[in-house]
Amino acid sequence: HLNGLDFAVADLSLAEFGRHEIRLAEHEMPGLMELRREYAETRPLQGARISGSLHMTVQTAVLIETLVALGAEVRWASCNIFSTQDHAAAAAVVGPDGTPEAPRGVPVFAWKGESLPEYWWCTERMLLWPGGQGPTAIVDDGGDATLLVHKAVEFEKAGRVPDPVAGDSEEWAAFLGQLRASLSAEGANWSGVASEILGVSEETTTGVHRLYHLANTGELLFPAINVNDSVTKSKFDNRYGIRHSLVDGINRGTDVLIGGKVAVVCGYGDVGKGAAESLRGQGARVIVTEIDPICALQAQMDGYEVATLDSVVGRADIVITTTGNKDVVRVEHMSRMKHQTILANIGHFDNELDMAGLARLPGIRRANVKPQVDEWVFADGHSIIVLAEGRLVNLGNATGHPSFVMSCSFANQVIAQVELYSARERYERQVYRLPKELDEKVARIHVRALGGELTELTDDQAEYIGVPVRGPYKPEHYRY
Ligand code: NAI
Repeated sequence: HLNGLDFAVADLSLAEFGRHEIRLAEHEMPGLMELRREYAETRPLQGARISGSLHMTVQTAVLIETLVALGAEVRWASCNIFSTQDHAAAAAVVGPDGTPEAPRGVPVFAWKGESLPEYWWCTERMLLWPGGQGPTAIVDDGGDATLLVHKAVEFEKAGRVPDPVAGDSEEWAAFLGQLRASLSAEGANWSGVASEILGVSEETTTGVHRLYHLANTGELLFPAINVNDSVTKSKFDNRYGIRHSLVDGINRGTDVLIGGKVAVVCGYGDVGKGAAESLRGQGARVIVTEIDPICALQAQMDGYEVATLDSVVGRADIVITTTGNKDVVRVEHMSRMKHQTILANIGHFDNELDMAGLARLPGIRRANVKPQVDEWVFADGHSIIVLAEGRLVNLGNATGHPSFVMSCSFANQVIAQVELYSARERYERQVYRLPKELDEKVARIHVRALGGELTELTDDQAEYIGVPVRGPYKPEHYRY
């Protein structure tokens, strides 16, 4: 606690550095700055309490300060143990007009290199407002904050203590046990917290999968807006963001020359397409693995070889997973890799790689080269280099996606939060996407910022192709 703010970050003295980077990022985030201008007078989030679980980076600080500019109170945590940029976290706490001695920003609970218990502690602190209140809405990335609320309500309703013997994982049971204790001390209850939540806006593919599952089984406790599937999110952030930040992560982690190497990219969805392009851009010979024949054929048309990991793993110099699936690279693959093959994951969770299985292998030895870079030496003496312990390599080893592409994603987040708060009556306990007009609005701002000139339809042309002159220009089923 300092100056009435509760928070937990690495070092508030980094705030000045963070503020410089936030200032530069604002110029590169025209979508967020336009929304600040548009809503400066009306402040549609006045009265909202927004809890965010999303990588605490410089770009996220610009998102946080946009939500505040629109009138919201905000609490924040990171959605990954390695992704926080400590200077951004410090600057968000200090705020634009505070000092490290008298911070005036928002409560942030995040630092780079949290342990898992610390991670869940941060998530809990971010969700609980002074007095045991909950948020009016959640910004989520990967669904952990939403999962926490749902699990806590489930245990509370069942009136049982989480128990590893009953099938709850040990870590989860310990965490929820601790949560119950801290909550009863503060007099809050999770059903009460959940009932105040107007909705969640979800950032990524993996979190969206979880939301549709909850909605389909009737378990979803509040409305959800799927931000990921705005076209200006997944077709830009997941693809062009990854094209930028994957090689950034590999370079900062290893500085190995990528040109001429054989790189295997597992998965050819939006993230896989960006990953493959990123590696090919550096001159790698890229091989793609896929389970879906449509994506496999796209990869072939784009000029990549398509093969199974089993058949090519012995040739690979770099292996990257992008599937959002589990157990994609298993120990039998890792042990067959060449000496010093680089292995990394850029999908949301670390379970794409069987890191636990690797650690259990007889004779295996782990040498930590530097933070987020480990050499795993097998009993026969050969080794592989694993980045960010199998967690998102672009955020673990580098700084995630650059500002401009996050401006597209986060403009959708802000619009979704305004919707949930000001048009709450429209939404039931289902998963919704934002209307296409808003997607086109986000794109229009960024086209203009890049100096592009849009061609305008004539009335006659609009009538001929059957669309309004001002859009939306495509039917819902159009795939871009
Ligand atoms: P997507 O659904 O478009 O692509 C995933 C692809 O993997 C699909 O084409 C699927 O057929 C394929 N796949 C599934 N299991 C496979 C297997 N066993 N072997 C080979 N291919 C397999 O999803 P998207 O949007 O590309 O996201 C992928 C992951 O990346 C998600 O976990 C998402 O949350 C995460 N993500 C990470 C970002 C980052 O900054 N690191 C940014 C955006 C998304």
